[in-house]
Amino acid sequence: MDIEVLRRAPLFATLDDDAFRLLTDELTEVDLSRGASVFREGDQGDQLYFIVSGKVKLGRTSPDGRESLLAILGPGELFGEMALFDPSPRTATATAVSETRLAGLKNESLNALLRTRPEVSAQLLQALARRLRRTNDSLSDLVFSDVPGRVAKALLDLADRFGRPATDGVLVAHELTQEELAQLVGASRETVNKALAEFVQRGWLRLEARAVVILDMQRLRQRSR
Ligand code: CMP
Repeated sequence: MDIEVLRRAPLFATLDDDAFRLLTDELTEVDLSRGASVFREGDQGDQLYFIVSGKVKLGRTSPDGRESLLAILGPGELFGEMALFDPSPRTATATAVSETRLAGLKNESLNALLRTRPEVSAQLLQALARRLRRTNDSLSDLVFSDVPGRVAKALLDLADRFGRPATDGVLVAHELTQEELAQLVGASRETVNKALAEFVQRGWLRLEARAVVILDMQRLRQRSR
């Protein structure tokens, strides 16, 4: 397993090499192709997952079948810890949006790690607080921002985490369909398409298959406020 990405993750940065090696002995590799789910909302769960490569979407389904995305996570990030820390069924479905490699850690191994390495607990708390902050921001945006503003913000956030320099801007290979992007910002596909078309027309971005190239970061940032 290519665990270098985990070695660099803040959660493990404080572990010495021996402790890190002991931990990685406990990890099991899970490979997913695009569209495959690792678990579904309502399942029982006894392990959490680190993303080694690829991207995972966390989504919920309403009783009438509509989908909403809570987050898109990438390499070095973790998910599936809620069912362990607050024993209850999985609160979302985790699905790969590209070829994805995960490393699973069982509850018993996690508990042993937290008992012997309290500094990992502190990092975990920080990761959870960061997630709560992001969730609160999204909640406020749903109330205070219009759809183009939310689309601009989502693209900037994806650029921050997955962006790569391109000749004319920043390539954001988010791997999402426009339907999934709409689920992420909590709007209809039609409204999100309209916002994207407007950004393209203004010259702020270019659309590619499951990716965008941001051409004018500053204008997009202004629109996101
Ligand atoms: P769990 O409930 O075990 O399974 C679904 C996972 O989705 C959950 O653990 C968290 O790891 C993750 N998750 C839930 N809500 C959010 C959120 N708002 N942002 C990011 N990840 C989340």
